[in-house]
Amino acid sequence: MARGLLARLSLDPADLPRHVAIIMDGNGRWAKKQGKPRISGHKAGVVAVREAIGTSVELGIDYLTIYSFSSENWSRPKDEVRGIMSLFVEVLAKEVRELNEQNVRVRIIGDLSSVPARTRRAFEDCCASTSANTGLTLVVALSYGARADIIAAARRCGGGEVDQDAFARELSTAGMPDPDLLIRTSGEKRLSNFLLWEAAYAELYFTDVLWPDFTRESLLEALVDYQGRSRRYGGV
Ligand code: IPE
Ligand code: IPE
Ligand code: MG
Repeated sequence: MARGLLARLSLDPADLPRHVAIIMDGNGRWAKKQGKPRISGHKAGVVAVREAIGTSVELGIDYLTIYSFSSENWSRPKDEVRGIMSLFVEVLAKEVRELNEQNVRVRIIGDLSSVPARTRRAFEDCCASTSANTGLTLVVALSYGARADIIAAARRCGGGEVDQDAFARELSTAGMPDPDLLIRTSGEKRLSNFLLWEAAYAELYFTDVLWPDFTRESLLEALVDYQGRSRRYGGV
């Protein structure tokens, strides 16, 4: 299935990113365009997440990291934050069976200590229930901020002789390959404190599509664009 699809798009199966990271932005603007409350944009965003997971599974991508809630997003109106935290609980309960069927392993990065207990438990249960899966690793960045993650890693390193690999092993992304492709939707062109260390050599892809409108085709388009890049890592 994936092979036929790849051929049709002239995507080279040998040159797919191992790790795709996505800043899923634009839910609020999507809702506003429809004259609906912001939370309905977040709900519509869940459908796009499901589709991105399905496409990644189908293509055999190893890691998909999704920026779901940033450490700065706590500054949003209480109602919106509460709505998002409840949405996580609702969605995880509904999706865990499908994730297991897709052989998806869920992993969380971020500061879970500030996440309400009910939401934290829902994520912990989902991670535990999917931990033996061997397909796609879905990394959910939740209450995540790269600067805080870097500071925490620096503290754990304790100031001794540290090289880059040893430092990276203290980050919450320890053991994961760096993202090859970093996508941001909604037309904003910034990193907003996402994977600052890990994305050092990521290919950046920006699209005006608002996250709830980001389909399987949108992801495939990003991959076609990625395959047109020349990754030089400072060489020639
Ligand atoms: C991204 O959409 C989702 C989260 C940050 C939780 P936004 O809610 O930021 O949508 P816009 O940027 O306001 O349109
Ligand atoms: C980044 O989006 C965080 C997530 C997508 C979860 P924001 O909407 O919070 O970023 P800014 O405020 O536009 O930089
Ligand atoms: Mg936004």
